[in-house]
Amino acid sequence: MLSDRFGRTIDYLRVSVTDRCDLRCSYCIPKGFKGFEEPANWLRFDEIQRVVAAFARLGTRRFRLTGGEPLLRRNLPQLVSSLSALPGVEDLSLTSNGTQLAAQAAALKAAGLRRLNISLDSLRRECVSSICGSDSLDQVLDGLRAARQAGFDLIKINMVPLAGVNDGDIDAMMAFCIEQGFILRLIEVMPMGHTGQNSQGLDLSRLLDELSRRHQLQPATLTLGGGPARYWQSADGQFTMGLITPMSQHFCASCNRVRLSVDGTLYMCLGQEEQLPLRPLLRAGCSDAELENAIRTAIELKPERHDFNTQPKQLVRFMSMTGG
Ligand code: 5AD
Ligand code: SF4
Repeated sequence: MLSDRFGRTIDYLRVSVTDRCDLRCSYCIPKGFKGFEEPANWLRFDEIQRVVAAFARLGTRRFRLTGGEPLLRRNLPQLVSSLSALPGVEDLSLTSNGTQLAAQAAALKAAGLRRLNISLDSLRRECVSSICGSDSLDQVLDGLRAARQAGFDLIKINMVPLAGVNDGDIDAMMAFCIEQGFILRLIEVMPMGHTGQNSQGLDLSRLLDELSRRHQLQPATLTLGGGPARYWQSADGQFTMGLITPMSQHFCASCNRVRLSVDGTLYMCLGQEEQLPLRPLLRAGCSDAELENAIRTAIELKPERHDFNTQPKQLVRFMSMTGG
């Protein structure tokens, strides 16, 4: 098992397969952004597989593919099937904006993908367009339908409530998720890059009181996926909602994850700069033992917590560069 200086077990790796995206969500990628990583610097599938296999040998059991928008990476189902076949990879999941899901859901399921998180901030077309910079609602809804048909269950919907933009849409999103059997997760905006810093998220810890009263939600004891979300359930158990509160109630003390960016850099924390580039090692033909040692060294660097609240202007890297 990997564990860090603060006694935290690191058993979860998030793998970004691209920093590109077909959307430009206001809190994430700036409009007109040109600084995407060059293809020559993207880890190849065989390199990603080596890193994942090394983490699995070191005791990591859960892996998530992210981006950018991971479905933009060509032949992603191929990567999914090679990773899901690795010994130790017990849980392989994907975070996506859903726009390309209709065409790929069945292939991803067949390749061994277990779980899906889909980002959706509103059910109003104009609102989605204004947040994401593209009229993508229908595509995402088609994608969600395809995912259900392909047999994905426990689909999670990630919504980032923004003050005065879509905070009035939470009830409608709850009703939609109840009807469709999706798990709704509300996420506080983190000040990553100027996009995140200029977005006004909601204090979800405060909102929770009101929501739980109005919808008679009770704290749920279940852990779904082992992430930082705290879950709430309706009395009949039919509806589950998660809150992810990196700002109002951070969960750094139980952080269990690190992130691999598309260029093969391990990032130890979303909100800090500690990192270790693995690509030079991989391309210099390192041995498995050397790779494992580098990973152990990286984990030693993991900082105690983010400083989003005390130093909100600190981070110039926006979400899609690290892997959301
Ligand atoms: N703060 C919080 N969440 C963010 N995401 C992107 N940028 C931010 C940010 N600044 C989320 C998206 C998506 C996931 C990939 O990352 O909502 O669910
Ligand atoms: Fe793309 Fe996700 Fe960032 Fe939106 S939040 S721009 S969908 S990577």
